[in-house]
Amino acid sequence: MWQIKCIKDSVKAVLPFQHQMRRLKDEMLGYTREPDKDRSTIRDGMVLIEWIGSVADAIVLEIGSGWQPMIPILFSLAGAKVFLTDMYPLMRPETFRAALDAIRENRDEIIARIHLSPDALDHAVRPCRDEEMERRLAELRLVYLAPCDCRSLAIEPGAIDVVMSRAVLEHIHPNVIEGIFREAYRLLRPGGITLHLVDHSDHWSHRDKRINAVNFLRYPDWLFRLTCINPQDYQNRLRHSQYRTLLESTGFIIKSEERSVDPQCLSSLSNMPITPKFRYFEAEDLATVNSILLAKAGRG
Ligand SMILES: C[S@@+](CC[C@H](N)C(=O)[O-])C[C@H]1O[C@@H](n2cnc3c(N)ncnc32)[C@H](O)[C@@H]1O
Repeated sequence: MWQIKCIKDSVKAVLPFQHQMRRLKDEMLGYTREPDKDRSTIRDGMVLIEWIGSVADAIVLEIGSGWQPMIPILFSLAGAKVFLTDMYPLMRPETFRAALDAIRENRDEIIARIHLSPDALDHAVRPCRDEEMERRLAELRLVYLAPCDCRSLAIEPGAIDVVMSRAVLEHIHPNVIEGIFREAYRLLRPGGITLHLVDHSDHWSHRDKRINAVNFLRYPDWLFRLTCINPQDYQNRLRHSQYRTLLESTGFIIKSEERSVDPQCLSSLSNMPITPKFRYFEAEDLATVNSILLAKAGRG
C-alpha cells in the first residue's frame, strides 16, 4: 500500500545520516541491482541516443545521473564525453560496477542498436575493481561532478553540445527546473540541444497497482506535499505542456516531442475527482505518462 511506503520513507527522512545509513546497509548486505529496472534504463538511454542521431565526439552533460551511470556509459560507448551531475554524490564503486554489469548483461541489444563492435564494448565494460573506478571513468571519458547545483556549474559558456536527463525532471521543483534550463542554455553551444525523458506518472503507482498513474491529481498541493517529506519521493506533478512552456520561456525552441497517453488513465479521469489546479488542463495532457522533449538553444 503506497501510504505505508510513504510513511516509512518519511520516517527515514527525519532520521539523521540517512545516506550514510543506506551506504552502511549496502556495505553489510551488498549492493543489489534490479535487472529489469536496469534494462529499461538502458533502453531509455538508447532511445535518447537515437533521438540525437550521432553523439560521436559530442560533449554531453547529464542532469541527475543517480547511482548507476548506465546512460553516460552508453553515450561514451557511442563516442561522447559526458559530464555527470547530481545534487547528491550517489555513485560509488559498487554502483559503478553494477552499471558495468548491467551493460554487459544487455550487450547484444546494445551492440545491435548503437552499432558497436562487440570487442570494443567488451573491453570498455570489462569487470572493475573498487580501486580502479577513477581510472575507468577517465578511460570512458566520464567526468563526475556530483554533488553540484545544476543551476550553476563551473563549465565555460558554449562548451556543451547536449544537455540531457532521464527520469529526473519530475523530481525537481519547477523554480529549480527553470534555473537548470537557464544554465543549460548558457552552457550549450549555439544550436546545441537539450533532451529530456520525463516520467509524468504518479510514482506511488509504480509499486502499488491498486492506484493508477494519475491518482496523485486528486490531491491539493498542501496534502500532496505530505507525501514528499523524504526528498527522494518529491514529485512536482508538472504536466507535459508545462515542461514545454518552461523550455520556451528559457529561450529554447522545441524541435520534436513524443508523448504516451495512457488510455486507462484517460477514461478514469472522467469519473475521478481532480483537485482544482488540474481542472483546466486538457485530458490528454493530464493522462500523458511519459514524454520526450528535444529542444534547441534558440541562438544559432
Ligand atoms: C530517479 S533518479 C534517476 C537517475 C538516472 N537518471 C537514471 O535514469 O537512472 C533521479 C535523480 O535525480 C537527482 N536529482 C534530484 N534533484 C536534482 C537536482 N536539483 N539536480 C540534480 N539532480 C537531481 C536525484 O538525486 C537522483 O539521482
